[in-house]
Amino acid sequence: MDLFSAIDTEPIRQRMEQLVSELDKLNYEYYMNDRSLVSDQEFDSMMRELQDLERQYPELASPLSPTKRVGGEVNKSFKQVTHRFPMLSLGNTYSIEEIEEFEARTRRLLDGEEFSYTCELKYDGVAIGLTYRHGQLVQAVTRGNGTVGDDITTNAKTIATIPLRLRGDFPDDFEARGEVVYPFEAFEAMNRQREAEGDEPFANPRNAASGSLKLQDSAECAKRKLQFCMYFMMAPDGIALPDTHFVRLEYARQMGFKVQPYIKECRDITEIKAFIDHWDKARWDLPFGIDGIVIKVNQTPLWDRLGLTAKSPRWAIAFKFKAERVSTPLESISYQVGRTGVITPVANLKPVWLGGTTVKRATLVNADFIEKMGICSGDNLLIEKGGEIIPKVVGVDLEQRKAGAMPIQYITRCPECGSLLVRAEGEAGHYCPNSDGCHPQIIGRLEHFVGRRAMNIESLGPERLELLYSADLVRNVADLYDLRREQLVGLGADATIQDKGADNLLSALEASKQVPFERVLFALGIRYVGEVGAKKLARYFKNIDALMAASEEELAQVEDVGEVTARAVAEWFANDEHRAIVERLRAAGLQMTGKWQMATGVLEGMTLVVSGVFEHFSRDEIKADIENHGGKVSGSISGKTTYLVAGEKMGPEKLKKAERLGVKILTETEYLEMTGR
Ligand code: IVH
Repeated sequence: MDLFSAIDTEPIRQRMEQLVSELDKLNYEYYMNDRSLVSDQEFDSMMRELQDLERQYPELASPLSPTKRVGGEVNKSFKQVTHRFPMLSLGNTYSIEEIEEFEARTRRLLDGEEFSYTCELKYDGVAIGLTYRHGQLVQAVTRGNGTVGDDITTNAKTIATIPLRLRGDFPDDFEARGEVVYPFEAFEAMNRQREAEGDEPFANPRNAASGSLKLQDSAECAKRKLQFCMYFMMAPDGIALPDTHFVRLEYARQMGFKVQPYIKECRDITEIKAFIDHWDKARWDLPFGIDGIVIKVNQTPLWDRLGLTAKSPRWAIAFKFKAERVSTPLESISYQVGRTGVITPVANLKPVWLGGTTVKRATLVNADFIEKMGICSGDNLLIEKGGEIIPKVVGVDLEQRKAGAMPIQYITRCPECGSLLVRAEGEAGHYCPNSDGCHPQIIGRLEHFVGRRAMNIESLGPERLELLYSADLVRNVADLYDLRREQLVGLGADATIQDKGADNLLSALEASKQVPFERVLFALGIRYVGEVGAKKLARYFKNIDALMAASEEELAQVEDVGEVTARAVAEWFANDEHRAIVERLRAAGLQMTGKWQMATGVLEGMTLVVSGVFEHFSRDEIKADIENHGGKVSGSISGKTTYLVAGEKMGPEKLKKAERLGVKILTETEYLEMTGR
């Protein structure tokens, strides 16, 4: 650095440092103490100022800056890391007698020693370990198999309750352990949004937390509003920590960790049981999920004396709550018809409060399930909700069964169109075979086709589709591409579709003609062909003609395509009406060939580096695409690099390096053009 720039940047460095420390303080007050010291606008404007400065002067940016909270860095892959201290699990039990045994055994082993226990919540999330050196977060790693986990530091930095820099006094080197949980409210909001966008909702907050920590785009992780609940602290030899677990957690709280206040020092089994009983009921009032209580010997010097069993310490145990269960009358059964004609029976229940929500409905899966459970009309059903958010029917409450109750008679005809249902050999579900005349199937297929992960025709929601259907304009997906402006304008009871709406719709349909082949294939809605299956089939057969000509045996050769799927695909294409639809879609200009098939060899002899997030490709896809065009992919930029293909949110270091070495940079669009798209 020359003298001038050193003088120039000093005030900037100071300003950046000031913003960092102010923002850290505001974040701390907000997330730890629920206190806003400034307005949202003021906060945002400080954040923006810091972001701008960091962009302008990346060399002055701190790796622990609060701007990391909003994410933006891309995780190429998650490095595997060996834990410095293995992450043990706990012995666990559902039985209170075993807790009594644990308590008696501990007392016996400690032979007259004075000691106590701590009881705390067993958070239902994902265990991670955070390494702090000199008060700074240096690494965050998932539990993995206890010995090796994934480095998720970038995503962990986006979690507001994980301190990046510690406050006050702290050990110079230690690991903080805890659980990343997805609070119910944020979880439900995220799932609602996923459903609205056509994504599969997560089954429960734990899966969602785990998926979030593995997101490639840390900005996406930042949006998830995860929380970290600290529950454990350990340090290498030579670094002293307080000698009770209780005080260690108090110490951690002073350093800036979010330590839940629900920890109690208990002196005997009576106090332990009282804690368990209280939380068995009160757990549903918490903003996040817990699945039990953890009981630890409080005095840490005693931990060594008690030692370990094969994989868990003898000084702690987890009591797990049983899934909450209620009995409620089955009022009726509705039969829903899906887009593939599959029938799903749904129990309509007398509303009942269970695990924090009112349950009114639960799936009965299929006819086999009803039979296996032996459900009769007028029965009371047993409903459970464990870690899952979705309530499950687990049985019949036989004590409440009425005399002479008769088993449920499964329907034989489609509730929507009256067709006789079919049940294929070896399959548990019933189907309505009237695919072209059964309303929910027709609308369901159209909805699937226009969905975000399929053709992504946003301007066509369920209501519009109904409208087009009832106006007799659209009966199948190919009809969409025959729509004309004059048919659309003025459509609907109050002329819902106007000039602009019609134009938007037509241009969205036009744009969908660029959707890649694999998504077109997924959009067709063939039974069992999900996104992954469609991708694999598209890759394997390269175009629709080869796929249509494939035999069941050939189809089953494809990775991840089983016999059932292979049969469904072959049957789908054997149907003349389906073939006619495919031909009409082809004539309309939809992609029926994979782009990768057009590989030209234009990248022969070139070495490309990819960085960032792409619109048309996942990272693996763009790499495969480069190779298909004859190019070589390299992980790092050097003098030998021909091009850097720069996606969104690329890290500034790569860009700088490319500039320094004079490596040409391609945008995604330029890359597509260059490879003839
Ligand atoms: S203590 C060596 N405390 O439950 C003991 N664990 O098998 C370290 N968990 O994977 C664990 N809440 O992720 C402890 N308050 C709590 C906990 C807790 C949840 C998880 C932990 C571990 C599993 C126990």
